[in-house]
Amino acid sequence: MEQIADGIIYIGVNDHNIDLFEGQYIVPNGMAYNSYAIVDEKVAIMDSVDAGYGDEWFANIDAALEGRAPDYLIVQHMEPDHGANVAAFMERYPSAQVVASMGAFNMMQNYFGTKFEGRSVVVKEGSTLELGGRELTFVAAPNVHWPEVIFTYDARDKVLFSADAFGKFGALDVEEDWDCEARRYYFGIVGKFGPAVQKVLAKAAGLDIEVICPLHGPVLSENLGHYLQQYQTWSSYGVETPGVVIAYSSVYGHTKEAVELLEAKLKEKGCPRVVVTDLARDDQAEAVEDAFRHGHLVLATTTYCGGIFPAMDQFIHHLIDHAFQKRTVAFVENGTWMPAATKKMRALMEECPDITFAEKSVTVKGALSDESRAQIDALAEELAAQF
Ligand SMILES: [Fe+2]
Ligand SMILES: [Fe+2]
Repeated sequence: MEQIADGIIYIGVNDHNIDLFEGQYIVPNGMAYNSYAIVDEKVAIMDSVDAGYGDEWFANIDAALEGRAPDYLIVQHMEPDHGANVAAFMERYPSAQVVASMGAFNMMQNYFGTKFEGRSVVVKEGSTLELGGRELTFVAAPNVHWPEVIFTYDARDKVLFSADAFGKFGALDVEEDWDCEARRYYFGIVGKFGPAVQKVLAKAAGLDIEVICPLHGPVLSENLGHYLQQYQTWSSYGVETPGVVIAYSSVYGHTKEAVELLEAKLKEKGCPRVVVTDLARDDQAEAVEDAFRHGHLVLATTTYCGGIFPAMDQFIHHLIDHAFQKRTVAFVENGTWMPAATKKMRALMEECPDITFAEKSVTVKGALSDESRAQIDALAEELAAQF
């Protein structure tokens, strides 16, 4: 069992059976549901794991505790990927108490039909829990990304248990880049709640932290400044990487051709980075991540049923749902007889705050023409000039 710090043991599980995380995100490298045992004069277990992994988790607890029984189950987050085994834990360890926020106890009522009256310790911002050699302090983190969430800080070991914050997709027995899968996770799952993340980052800035223990992804113990800076940028909707994302859908390949020409022109004119994504075929969560990562977004699609092609319509709604903002947006539309996609896309994108719309736009009427090629050149000129 991996020792995180003196008396803090990793007892989480890897899930390689999952098809879609939270019912919508592909996770090619699986998922980890992290849990930790803090073994002191009292023993606290940090969160449970997803429903299918209770037996493995209990085996990990038994191995970590070597015959001792846990005194507390600290529930930082009640979403079922962590909260599913709370009731089973309470049944297995009859002398244990649950430690959680009032909001989490209300959710236990909803999931398990009980708030574990007589065995519950309600905590809130600033509450502490004495374990003997160390005292845990709770930090309220409402809406990161559910309302009941609390973080837990162990001042003796300088460890912050950060619930879903600083988590990523991917099981822990697979090596992969942290930034890409943490960013896709962040914008998909937490992205809408930037102001709430900002509040908790401000609280974390006042703590001396050497190790971050999230509920997904690796324990972070080196280069913490990098992860904190990424969260700072992401939660303030700042631009992480200068560049243009071209998100498109194409029916017969003509819109794709327009996109490829725009990509070539942008590169030719010195745009530092161009990312192209096919919304009907590529992972839209990756496209959402790319849109938030970069400062400029081009939406290119066909007119369809007098509106927007479905893949693009879905993508724009993802952007709106996740509080997309503070970006420059341009449009490319295709329509053989009555192009209408740009008007509709713009009307939707106007729901997003602080969007600057490019002056130039492109209309393709079926296939590329001299006129639409010239429009593409002009749009590339306008966007490239902004770098
Ligand atoms: Fe969650
Ligand atoms: Fe989670």
